Amino acid sequence: CGSCAMNIDGVNTLACLSAIPKDNDDMVVLNPLPHMYVIKDLVPDLSNFYEQYKSIKPWLHNTKHNLNKGELLQSVEDRKKLDGMYECILCACCSTSCPSYWWNADTYLGPAVLMQAYRWIEDSRDEITSERLDNLDDTFKLYRCHSIMNCSKTCPKGLNPGKAVASIKKRIAEQH
Ligand code: SF4
Ligand code: F3S
Repeated sequence: CGSCAMNIDGVNTLACLSAIPKDNDDMVVLNPLPHMYVIKDLVPDLSNFYEQYKSIKPWLHNTKHNLNKGELLQSVEDRKKLDGMYECILCACCSTSCPSYWWNADTYLGPAVLMQAYRWIEDSRDEITSERLDNLDDTFKLYRCHSIMNCSKTCPKGLNPGKAVASIKKRIAEQH
């Protein structure tokens, strides 16, 4: 679910997936996710993160399909394009490992939110793809990503948000 995301021995990850050292004398250093305001102990304030998530309109926009007439289906190929993105649990490990996000979290959307933006851009059923791309075509929202790739390295789900960010840049370049 992502709620136990924290920095364990210098790495952002999920506590629930991390083994406790067998030797009780081994010390484990726990810190809250880096460069976030801390509410208490290991609890970071994710208000800005969730506001940013809201800003990308993370839901399907489709006005043409009449749901009374049945499901809105995708081809197997189109559905596959969402693999590697829909599994994201929004734990924020990636965004809080990104130096650009550390310094510009007020304006840069960060890898987690950008990958979710791309998840909807790639959805064959969505009708506002151009609007989504236009909304991201911004010096700060998107282009503060400098391909550092800490995000993909740290994702405890093995996802590749850095690649998704690069794909958005490519789609915008193709659109213009
Ligand atoms: Fe967490 Fe990975 Fe999603 Fe980033 S991409 S929020 S690290 S699950
Ligand atoms: Fe940051 Fe990942 Fe880009 S670490 S700079 S979002 S590739």
